[in-house]
Amino acid sequence: MLVRPEPSQEAAPIWFVTKETWPKIRASLPGLAQAFASACGFEPTPGRAQILPGPEGEIDGVLFGIEGAEARARDLLLPGQMATSLPPGLYRFANPPHDAALAALSWILSGYRFHRYKSNNVDAPRLCVPDGVDAARVERIARGVILGRDLINTPANDMDPEALEAAVLTLAAQHQAEAEVTRGAALLDANLPLIHAVGRAAEKEPRLVDFRFGAETAPKVTLVGKGVCFDSGGLDIKPDAAMSLMKKDMGGAATALALAAMIMEAGLAIRLRVLIPIVENAISGNAFRPGDIYESHKGLTVEIGNTDAEGRLILADALALADEEAPELLIDFATLTGAARVALGPDLPPFYTMDEALAADIANFGAATEDPVWRLPLWDPYDKLLEGKLADLNNISGGPFAGSITAALFLRRFVERTKSWAHFDIYAWTPKAKPGRPEGAEVQAARLLYALLEARYGAQMLAKRGKKPPLRAGAARKIDPAKLETSVK
Ligand code: BES
Ligand code: MN
Ligand code: ZN
Repeated sequence: MLVRPEPSQEAAPIWFVTKETWPKIRASLPGLAQAFASACGFEPTPGRAQILPGPEGEIDGVLFGIEGAEARARDLLLPGQMATSLPPGLYRFANPPHDAALAALSWILSGYRFHRYKSNNVDAPRLCVPDGVDAARVERIARGVILGRDLINTPANDMDPEALEAAVLTLAAQHQAEAEVTRGAALLDANLPLIHAVGRAAEKEPRLVDFRFGAETAPKVTLVGKGVCFDSGGLDIKPDAAMSLMKKDMGGAATALALAAMIMEAGLAIRLRVLIPIVENAISGNAFRPGDIYESHKGLTVEIGNTDAEGRLILADALALADEEAPELLIDFATLTGAARVALGPDLPPFYTMDEALAADIANFGAATEDPVWRLPLWDPYDKLLEGKLADLNNISGGPFAGSITAALFLRRFVERTKSWAHFDIYAWTPKAKPGRPEGAEVQAARLLYALLEARYGAQMLAKRGKKPPLRAGAARKIDPAKLETSVK
């Protein structure tokens, strides 16, 4: 994590430079450093790092290019790139980058490695807490993201329904949250038939974990996460290329847990509820089949058009259950469709909501926290594509178009009483490393939602304890406070 240095510890300064600031910063450097930077052909382009030598050949400092005034966009996570490119040692920011808290977070998240199966003893460069940065908050967010990444990166042989249940219960226990598990045939007794149908063919039973944290009287926020430990497609089996990454199909569950960890550690003033339906979409003699019809928790009958559209089935029961107490806010995360990736690519998950104020907040906090998402519509005219021939609903639209939208519309059928619901169709994976995002598992949208919930419910809690509310990362950049006031409760 971040280093709180002893007064005796020396840290190499990192100078952030833009096209505009470079001449002045250059002039302030010792002659040798100036000459060396010139000899190396250093230019202050975004992402370019230049080590500066001291008189004894030691590392005296680092120049790091960031976006200047002319840039169309700023990558607030860019400074994290240094965590994988600088030599080991202790560093500090000599001047602030565009967002010091996000830069520090990115430093931690860039250095993340999944080392469960392969030791990783590389000595990494370490960063001192930058001036004015709430280190505890940055580390809380990092811990949540790392928890989620570890869960997603773990292959399905070690992250089966039993193991995922254990991970949820461990997190709940760490925060004295009250948890309840419904497993196997008990799902039928509890009227959760869709979770049972999807997961019943797997060796490890399907289950629903339900935990609650915080005072019952506090505003109710419920998170739901798709926990498909492996998605073979079921009898509508996936071809090999489409199946190869399906250990990550519990990425929604991992994201909900990452966000829950941040919320509970911060002690936000909400009654949090987390619902994780956990299954493996496997094939066996008792697998659910195309053409089967099941009555859902809500009572709507669902015809199975495709066993590979399993995520929306388990979410339907979990969302219907969540909806019964009409929480103030209901959020679900799911690696739900390949179509979402076709539309927006792996780095920009679509989200859906009918709550305009929530949509605006999500977009604003997404930009401010460099956790980008993009709103797609719950387009009413497509809703009829989900009508079943023999049942109320079919789990697929039957056509090749708008797959992410029709999946979201399917989920909407199960949310009735809740005023404010948002669905995130995430990818949970980074195919090619970027600053703050190593290749592999990724937690998407949890950081932005943590910042949003902190703004809505955190200040109140901290005020009670007589503390100042936390600084909001990047708040000055894209968040228009005038706009936010209207939706912040
Ligand atoms: N887990 C997949 C969706 C997925 C695939 C997410 C690849 C990320 C990467 C989901 O269960 C699924 O198989 N969806 C089908 C739905 C179709 C059968 C209507 C899809 O997207 O092809
Ligand atoms: Mn599937
Ligand atoms: Zn799936």
